[in-house]
Amino acid sequence: MTAASPPPSPWQASVLTLFPEMFPGPLGQSLAGRALREGRWGLDAIDIRGFATDRHRSVDDTPCGGGAGMVLRPDVVDAACAAALAAGPDRPLVVLTPRGVPLDQRMVRGFAEGPGVVLLCGRFEGIDQRVIEARGMLEVSIGDYVLSGGEPAALVLLDACVRLLPGVMGAAASGEEESFSAGLLEYPHYTRPTQWNGLAVPPVLLSGNHAEVARWRREQAEMLTRTRRPDLWARHGSATPHALDGQVNAA
Ligand code: ADE
Repeated sequence: MTAASPPPSPWQASVLTLFPEMFPGPLGQSLAGRALREGRWGLDAIDIRGFATDRHRSVDDTPCGGGAGMVLRPDVVDAACAAALAAGPDRPLVVLTPRGVPLDQRMVRGFAEGPGVVLLCGRFEGIDQRVIEARGMLEVSIGDYVLSGGEPAALVLLDACVRLLPGVMGAAASGEEESFSAGLLEYPHYTRPTQWNGLAVPPVLLSGNHAEVARWRREQAEMLTRTRRPDLWARHGSATPHALDGQVNAA
């Protein structure tokens, strides 16, 4: 008789935060929530304050060199990181900060394919740079705007990862993901009724001609990407003039 091999440990997220009650938050709902309850991924929210050592349980101090706000202490953050990594040492340590490298689908895919992530949520003015460097943390931003803390950014990152895990969303997610990975924004969608408030569904979508439908969707995706996201369009590598040039935003 051969011993059954143990089930693979699920993708594990640890979140270091001063507000652990913010988790799982929206990730406890819908498909991510169901997958969490089914054990397809795991989440532990770790209270950074639990690693304070003084009698005031202080986690921050004034910035060296002066200035507004408070900075998270390196010793406290380091102890919290050590505790999180003990439960899964091979996971990348990511700090959410507006000055990080921008999160994109490629990075998300990399995280989703690994054993999980440890996310550190900043608050106040920031986190002592020494612990960021000593722990080799990856600084990641979810966009060019400033949130009041890293927690909503951590939720965004986790949502993007969890939907890619096996058995969480199924074929729909991979299809969407592929279209985004191809470097284009998604084409618009329509459903019944085919006439609504005097507005018709584009006739090609009702034609039954699959090749024409695919061509129309491709053109729409290209047009949207070109007008809304010239940065993505440039990376997409198509510098050649397009049949739809000049027709976009003509109104
Ligand atoms: N914390 C505050 N703003 C943020 C942002 N834009 N991305 C990630 N973390 C943040």
